[in-house]
Amino acid sequence: MSINTTDPRAELKRKAAIEAADMVKDGMVVGLGSGSTSAFMIEELGRRWAEGLRFCAIPTSERSAEQARSHGIKLVTFATHPQIDIDIDGADEVERGTLNLIKGLGGALFREKIVAAASRRFVVVVDDSKLVDRLGAAVPVPVEVANFGWTSTARQLEALGAKVVQRLDRSGNVFVTDGGNMILDCHFGEIADSPALQRQLDGVVGVIETGLFIGRTSEVIVATADGLQRLRAA
Ligand code: 5RP
Repeated sequence: MSINTTDPRAELKRKAAIEAADMVKDGMVVGLGSGSTSAFMIEELGRRWAEGLRFCAIPTSERSAEQARSHGIKLVTFATHPQIDIDIDGADEVERGTLNLIKGLGGALFREKIVAAASRRFVVVVDDSKLVDRLGAAVPVPVEVANFGWTSTARQLEALGAKVVQRLDRSGNVFVTDGGNMILDCHFGEIADSPALQRQLDGVVGVIETGLFIGRTSEVIVATADGLQRLRAA
């Protein structure tokens, strides 16, 4: 993950990420999110590791694992560490009030949700451009689906009201997740009832996981031009 520090948005992401990294203490089991904001957080944890902070971590993507390893951070698995103390991750949209999220534009939503579900605290780090009144107006809901029969799955998603776009990578090939599956980006427009939509999506055969994160957020650290805000789940 290349980190662009000349972009003002990147600078805000970095500030939120550093604030969240400060929540990691000696002996903790830490979930490492994915994406550019999480990359700043892992970089900061790497700096603190070099200063002597000791924790272990479960990464949410191969890319985050590689970055953590490059700093010497100790990586573990659920087999030995089933309970995560704190998971720190980015998001594509955060709904004001509910703190429900859309995640997965980076493609790591399945592992990200497994790690978030196993965490005592799920801390989301964003710049203020990610805050919305209602999810879905600006970004699609990424849905990871099985490769087998995906056109049938896509039709079922369309029947729920989505405009479905198969995700491609930068070379124009079908995007492949770390789990070997594909992602269908589902454009619903503004979502009136995201918990209900999540239940409907869960009922579609072929859907492995969706980028709707409902009721999982403990806290959001938002970086604005005027400083950091902390939003907590009600
Ligand atoms: C990856 C994600 C990311 O957390 C999300 O896309 C935010 O990315 P960024 O921090 O680069 O804006 O969900 O699957």
